[in-house]
Amino acid sequence: MNACSTAPTLSTETDKQIDRVIEEYKDEPSPLLEILNEVQHIFGYLSDDMLIAISEKLSIPTSQVYGVATFYSLLSTRPKGKHIIRVCESAPCHVMGSESVLRAVKDELGIDLGETTPDGLFTLESTSCLGICSVGPAMMVNDRVFGNLTREKVRLILRRYAKDKEASVS
Ligand code: FES
Repeated sequence: MNACSTAPTLSTETDKQIDRVIEEYKDEPSPLLEILNEVQHIFGYLSDDMLIAISEKLSIPTSQVYGVATFYSLLSTRPKGKHIIRVCESAPCHVMGSESVLRAVKDELGIDLGETTPDGLFTLESTSCLGICSVGPAMMVNDRVFGNLTREKVRLILRRYAKDKEASVS
């Protein structure tokens, strides 16, 4: 992002939605993070124009808004896929085979960490502990956590999501 912000070119509707989010969270103890999180929840990511608009509306330097947006791994300044896959890389899962799981996802989707499939369906990320260490290796797809993963189970889960059906493997 250019350090010198310019007037954002957001649609009227997007601008109104950002105003609504700011109004909802402006009195929170840490409003900026809450606002960025909610705007991303609505639009899927945080564009430069959205960050500039938030900066101007909150009278916070654009560099500070951009700094927060790029610091937290759950926030993204780039569009992500419809399904976000997060493979756990913390120690317990690593010992139980997370590298194999990550390799299976890469092989199945043809993308690397931080990338999105050309059809916009999947984005691949890594994450720290998902809270189910006893049944690692684990990964999360959107808000759903899967454990006891094998390469075959990973393929099955991803193919179900690719068909846009709710995966039912646990
Ligand atoms: S270390 Fe992977 S779920 Fe806890």
